[in-house]
Amino acid sequence: MTRGLRKGLTNYGDAAFSLFHRKVFIKAMGYSDDALDRPIVGVTNTYSDFNPCQGNVPELIESVKRGVMLAGGLPMVFPTISIHESFAYPTSMFLRNLMAMDTEEMIRAQAMDAVVVIGGCDKTLPAQVMAAASTDVPTVVLPTGPMVVGHCRGEVLGACTDCRRLWAEYRAGRMDEGEMGQISGRLAPSVGFCGVMGTASTMACIVEAMGLSLPMSATAPAPHADRRRIAEESGKRAAEMAIAGAPTPSELITEASVRNALIVLQAIGGSTNGLIHLIAMAGRAGVAIDLENFDRLGREVPVLLNLKPSGAHYMEHFHYAGGLPALMRELRHVLDLSARSVSGGTIGDAIAQAEEAPGQDVIYSYASPLKKEGAMAVLYGNLAPRSAVIKQSAASLELMHHTGRAVVFDSVEDMIARIDLPDLDVHADDVLVLRNAGPKGAPGMPEAGYLPIPKKLAREGVKDMVRISDARMSGTAFGTIVLHIAPESAVGGPLAIVQTGDRIMLDVAARRIELLIDDGELQRRLVAWSNLPPHREMATRGYAKLYEDSVLQADQGCDFDFLLRTGRGK
Ligand code: FES
Repeated sequence: MTRGLRKGLTNYGDAAFSLFHRKVFIKAMGYSDDALDRPIVGVTNTYSDFNPCQGNVPELIESVKRGVMLAGGLPMVFPTISIHESFAYPTSMFLRNLMAMDTEEMIRAQAMDAVVVIGGCDKTLPAQVMAAASTDVPTVVLPTGPMVVGHCRGEVLGACTDCRRLWAEYRAGRMDEGEMGQISGRLAPSVGFCGVMGTASTMACIVEAMGLSLPMSATAPAPHADRRRIAEESGKRAAEMAIAGAPTPSELITEASVRNALIVLQAIGGSTNGLIHLIAMAGRAGVAIDLENFDRLGREVPVLLNLKPSGAHYMEHFHYAGGLPALMRELRHVLDLSARSVSGGTIGDAIAQAEEAPGQDVIYSYASPLKKEGAMAVLYGNLAPRSAVIKQSAASLELMHHTGRAVVFDSVEDMIARIDLPDLDVHADDVLVLRNAGPKGAPGMPEAGYLPIPKKLAREGVKDMVRISDARMSGTAFGTIVLHIAPESAVGGPLAIVQTGDRIMLDVAARRIELLIDDGELQRRLVAWSNLPPHREMATRGYAKLYEDSVLQADQGCDFDFLLRTGRGK
């Protein structure tokens, strides 16, 4: 097999010249022939001044390089796109597939025998795994790690569940601007990704559960020495994998490892976004996810992890309690322990080495869980023919079976314009409906599914209402919120024809979400909708056009239709 510098030669019609030409240029960087004869480990550089969740990438790169060289490889760092949630217009989800394409093509184009991908903020790890799966180059995933907790007025705080909770207090008039100013400097006290079980933490856990990163990679805090040691070890393993040519992503992303990840997703109180990303990552390896099966797992596998927003603690506490290997020890009777890991062993080996942390109250036992069902339930009904998702672990028990009057917002802009109007006709037992906020509709499926409680109700003390949409929600959010309705309204899903005043029934136990009108009326409204012009102008050029033409629905992972692998070996 062609290895190292000889791999993927630029095509000049003369392979020997291509290698000579490559050596001429790379020697300008001061490399010796000895260095250039080694197996090459690519290392992604996703550092960006716009991305504090990856603010420790430069130090991690240094540690990875040390590990690669200790094992006899040559590390070569290369840049790729970096995406931060707060600096991604219109949404980070809109850009995820672009990052996946960039990363895939750069791994493919440049000579590397293995790669360490370093990411953290929500969309970066899924984009990198999607890329790795498509190239099938041996890959070690290195998360940047969670930030540490902050403190304010005697309270422990962490981005971003507490950002949302405190912002709701401010909207309700219970906090003033001075207090918010002080808190804004305490919610994210270090680099690293959000320290609750938001999407970034969820993805780091899923990636570790699938064996794509080393044990404890998900939880070691970003500024800790443990993180640097894991980085060094990741580099070392990547060099060994470069020499061995294995394991490849397709050997690690299998039916067994994906099922393990789905179980972990339910047990950690994971982000709903995690499900979309896992579908996309598995899809790149030709592994399909059956949402009904995921729902069945949720009925059997309880939430074990006492982390916000489903519980009380933060990621660094999870690390001290033994991290993902200790959590998976509680799940060992339902996991496939023979699934392989980049560590060179199996998931069972990682569990066998899990630390004991006597007295901890972060990881609950399977026999005595935090919540008796898993994080998420998958709903169906005339409003969601292909599916919708609710994070039941972060919902209000009293609203899990609820019928209410629909109050409809036609778009995110409409919602922003009207939700706080003093004369908005809305009551606490209504159902807030947002549409045209799906993958194609907004575009980019914004995290607008967490519709704010209308100000006038918030001031009366209303903390939660049933909210439904084709949008996403941050994994850090909480509430009785139905998301990812598929098909979305912009492509003619039934959400498009709901009218203010209709009645909607949510029954989580029965897994139903229904618009209470008869089928004839529903069909009449759908025909009338199909004769309307699109709700907004569609893109005519650039990445936006590629995105709008190609993006799949939420139940298909929002990947581009032309990037899926349709089966093993294809
Ligand atoms: Fe980057 Fe939360 S903003 S992980």
